[in-house]
Amino acid sequence: KIHASAYHISDHPIKRKIYSFLHILAISLAGKSKMFLTMTFQWFLVFSVSIAVAAIDDDLIPSTLDGPFEPVTVPYDVSLRGNAVDLPDTDPRVRRCVEGFEPEQISVSLSVNYDSVWISWITGCSSESYLYYLLLCFWLAWLPLLESLAGEFQIGNNIKPLNPNTVASVVRYGRSRVPLTDEASGYSLVYNQLYPFEGLQNYTSGIIHHVRLTGLKPSTLYYYRCGDPSISAMSGIYHFRTMPVSGPRSYPNRIAVVGDLGLTYNTTDTIHNLKSNKPDLVLLVGDVSYANLYRTNGTGSDCYDCSFPETTIHETYQPRWDYWGRFMQSLISRTPIMVIEGNHEIEEQAGKQSFVAYRSRFAFPSEESKSSSPFYYSFNAGGIHFIMLGAYVDYSKSAKQYKWLERDLANVDRSMTPWLVAAWHPPWYNTYTAHYKEAECMRLEMEELLYSYGVDIVFNGHVHAYERSNRVYNYTLDPCGPVHITVGDGGNREKMAIEHADEAANCPEPSSTHDEDMGGFCATNFTSGPAAGKFCWDQQPDYSAFRESSFGHGILEVKNETWALWTWYRNQDSSGKVGDQVYIVRQPELCLGSIKLPKSSFADS
Ligand SMILES: [Fe+2]
Repeated sequence: KIHASAYHISDHPIKRKIYSFLHILAISLAGKSKMFLTMTFQWFLVFSVSIAVAAIDDDLIPSTLDGPFEPVTVPYDVSLRGNAVDLPDTDPRVRRCVEGFEPEQISVSLSVNYDSVWISWITGCSSESYLYYLLLCFWLAWLPLLESLAGEFQIGNNIKPLNPNTVASVVRYGRSRVPLTDEASGYSLVYNQLYPFEGLQNYTSGIIHHVRLTGLKPSTLYYYRCGDPSISAMSGIYHFRTMPVSGPRSYPNRIAVVGDLGLTYNTTDTIHNLKSNKPDLVLLVGDVSYANLYRTNGTGSDCYDCSFPETTIHETYQPRWDYWGRFMQSLISRTPIMVIEGNHEIEEQAGKQSFVAYRSRFAFPSEESKSSSPFYYSFNAGGIHFIMLGAYVDYSKSAKQYKWLERDLANVDRSMTPWLVAAWHPPWYNTYTAHYKEAECMRLEMEELLYSYGVDIVFNGHVHAYERSNRVYNYTLDPCGPVHITVGDGGNREKMAIEHADEAANCPEPSSTHDEDMGGFCATNFTSGPAAGKFCWDQQPDYSAFRESSFGHGILEVKNETWALWTWYRNQDSSGKVGDQVYIVRQPELCLGSIKLPKSSFADS
C-alpha cells in the first residue's frame, strides 16, 4: 500500500532523494577534479538531470493498481473558508451585455453522440410585445417593471409571461466562419416561478431557446450564430468542437468535473482555473445557481436549512439563474456542458411544481437516450459512456428510472465505449459529517446494478469538499468496484464541509441524516468490518483514499481503454501543483465477466 497525497512535482519523496544524491555526487566530483568540474558545471549537471526526472514524472503518479491506498486526510486550512460571498447584481460579469433582442446566456450541450449538439440561449420578447409592456409600465408608473424589461425576465406582482412564439429559434452554423452554410430551427419556452402569497414576488423568464444541430462530423470545429434572423437579432459568431467518434482508442483530451458551483468569488476562481485547463467537456454534477438561498425580494442567506423558516413556501430569487447563465457564457458557449440535477434545483413553487428552472434552462439528450426525462439520461463522449442519474426522482427498482438504467446498461457496447462513468448529485461514499449516509436508499437500490455492469468511475457533488474513494462495493474494498469521487467543492456560498463523521463527537445521530427530498430512511449501522455495529468509523474509513476541504475542480484524461488520469486542482494552487492525482486503471479481464468485452485485446494497453 502507498500513500497518495497532495504534492508539488518537486516535493515527491523519490524525487527529493534523487536530487539529494545528484547534488552530493556533483559536489564530490567537483572536489576531485577542480580543473574541469566547476560550480557552474555542478549546477548544470543537477539541472540536466532534474529535467530528465521531470520527464519521467508520470512514473511517480500512483495508479489504482497500487491500491487500496491507506486513507489520507489533508489538514484543513482555515484561511480558505472565507470569502464565500456571492457576486452582487452590480458585478459586470452578471449584467446583461447585449441590446434589444440579441441572444444571451448562450450554451452548448451534447446530444447522445458526436454527430449532434444542443445550442441554448435566452432572448427578450418581440418588438410589439415590448411596446405593449412599455406602455403598461408608464401607465402603472411602475419603474421596477420597466427596469426589468431592459433584460428578459420580469419579477414582481404584475408580471406578464412573454409569448415564446414571438421570436424564432434559429442556429446558423458551419465548418468555416464565413459562410455559415447550415441552418437548424428549434423550440422556445418561458417558465414562471410563482409564489402567490402576501409580500412575495413572482418571476417569469425571458424566452428560452433550444436548437438541436444534427449531422455533425466528429472532432470538428464548428462556428455558429443563434437568434432570430428575421428581426436582425443574431448573436456574434461562437464556436465549439464536437466529441470524437466512439471507439476504444478515441477520447476527448480533458473532461472537467465540477459540482455545487453557485456564483461566489470562489466560484469565479474555480471557473478561471477550470478554463485554464482547456477542457473539451464540462460535467456539472448538480447544485447550479443557488437561487434558492434568496428570498424573492433578493435578500440572500448562507444556509438553506436555516433560511426563511417563517415563509409560506421556500422562496427562490430566479434572477440569480440569469446571473449564472451570463457569467458562464464565456465558457459554455464554446465548451459543451452536461448538467444533472441537485437538491438546490428542486425549487418548489405554487402548484407543487419543482425543478422548473433546471428543466427549462438546459437541454438534455433525454429523447435521444430514450429516457424521456431531464432527470436521468446518457450520452457518449468518444469511448466513454456517461450515465447521469437522478437522486431526487424515484430510483427504486420498480421505477421508470431503474428500468431505463437496466436497458441503457444492457445496450452499452464496451467494444466502442470501454469506459462507463456514472454521475449523480449526493455521494454514496462520503465520510464528511455533512450529508453522511444521506443517499443510502439510493445506494441500496442501484449499487448492485451499476457494479454488475462494471461502472468504472462515479462522480458526485453535494458535499462541499473533495474526496476520492478506493475501489469499493457495498462498503467493502473490491478491485472491481468503481472509484467514487466527490467534487462538491465548486465554491458556493454555503461554505466548505470540514467535519468528518469519524472524528470525536462528529458522528451524526442516524435519524438526522434523512433527507426527505430523497425518499425513505435507510441509514443503518455497518454490519461488517472494523466499524461493525457502529454508525461511524472511529478513524478515516478504509474505503476513503483521500479527502481534503478545499475549493477546486477535477480533470479526467482518458488515455486508452484501460488507463485514465484523474487530477484534482485546488483553487489556492499555482499552475504545476495538484491537489490529488491518480491513474484509474480498468481491469476488464478481471471484472467484466459476461459483459461484452472490447473486440481488441488488452495487450497494447
Ligand atoms: Fe447539494
